[in-house]
Amino acid sequence: MTARQESRTQVGIVGAGPAGLVLATLLARAGIDSVVLEARSRAYVQARVRAGVLEAPTVDLLREAGVAGRLDREGMPHTGISLRFAETPGGPAEDHRIDFADLVGRGITVYGQQEVVKDLLADRIDDAGLPVEFEVSGVEIHDVTTDAPSITYTAADGTAHRLRCDVVAGCDGFHGTARSVVAPEIVERVYPFGWLGVLAQAAPTTDELVYSHHDNGFALYSMRSPEVTRLYLQVPPDTEAGSWSEARIWDELQTRLACDGFTLNEGELLEKPSVTGMRSMVASPMRHGRLFLAGDAAHIVPPTGAKGMNLAIADVRVLAEAVERFYRDGDERGFDDYSATCLRRVWRAEHFSWFMTSMLHRFDSSTEAGDPFGVGLQRSQLRYTVTSRAAATSLAENYVGLPHGAV
Ligand code: APR
Ligand code: PHB
Repeated sequence: MTARQESRTQVGIVGAGPAGLVLATLLARAGIDSVVLEARSRAYVQARVRAGVLEAPTVDLLREAGVAGRLDREGMPHTGISLRFAETPGGPAEDHRIDFADLVGRGITVYGQQEVVKDLLADRIDDAGLPVEFEVSGVEIHDVTTDAPSITYTAADGTAHRLRCDVVAGCDGFHGTARSVVAPEIVERVYPFGWLGVLAQAAPTTDELVYSHHDNGFALYSMRSPEVTRLYLQVPPDTEAGSWSEARIWDELQTRLACDGFTLNEGELLEKPSVTGMRSMVASPMRHGRLFLAGDAAHIVPPTGAKGMNLAIADVRVLAEAVERFYRDGDERGFDDYSATCLRRVWRAEHFSWFMTSMLHRFDSSTEAGDPFGVGLQRSQLRYTVTSRAAATSLAENYVGLPHGAV
């Protein structure tokens, strides 16, 4: 057997999603070396379509890190969203705008997650010439309870490597391996539905997102650009995406999004429809020794609150500050506080995402008798949210994103 090739860096990062790449960027800005190891190819991670809402604090951070040039040119600033629902079951739906600018003085930016990933990869690899190792396999994390952890892996060319480092960041997403090394306690909730998502070559007809509560189930109207619409339908959890014809998807979207004065433009689907399960999950603690979990590796939110990428980025901000403090002052207190600091924001986002999910989806489809009490509560919450300034402000400040460090 040939010997492993040995290398060294300060921070070994597993995963080149938003968490791993933003961490690498923040560390580089602070003069700290890192190596990013990614299981997939660059083309694959750049093409993966996911959510597309950036909180105000996320945009601020990307600007401070100097990676928001294209985001500022092409991102779509939004100052509100609409909640769409009927006053009475089966009645005509109406839009109720939640005006973020008026309520909390800030907004969100619609910009696809894969665009953020493309910008971060271009900044790191093409502009700064720093390393991201794609298509690695067999990643294993060692000795995290010592001050000399390491990561072993097989590179794309088949050679075996050991990367020695001071700190390991487990940014390898929900299906990654880092979480099992931390062996945290897991709490979770699985929802009895999924989302079928489509991306369509169709001009959005309103420039804001619409969250629609309908007797048939939830629908979401979003967009990616002035030419591309992103749409979602609540479906049973075990739905095969291929079992819905294009005609059926459009028909159901037209039904669930119908509202006076609103037109849903149809168009060619730009990728195969996909179904995402809906779950909430929190792993704690998010640290074991010198291994720190960040992003989807540590927590999952249902997409209704659009928090996934934002939380991942909030985590690595805390981690980057802790790592900087360690190298600057030899002070490990940032490491000690990491998990508790992150988990405060994580639980706020978990609550908000659960709240939005509970208020907007149909929960009774699996029971013949339905759940009239649950539906009554949902209608009451929707009405309260759109008629009380206090309730609308609460939704707005959570949606737009509480300032980092505020929770
Ligand atoms: N070795 C190396 N890389 C791995 C491994 C492994 N064993 N397992 C997973 N990865 C990679 C994945 O291929 C992926 O590119 O880790 C990366 C994790 O990225 P994300 O799943 O995007 O997770 P994260 O960076 O935490 O971002 C969270 O992404 O999941 C979406 O919508 C979610 O917005 C949320 C955000
Ligand atoms: C999206 O545009 O993909 C999107 C927007 C808002 C959400 C979820 C997804 O809550």
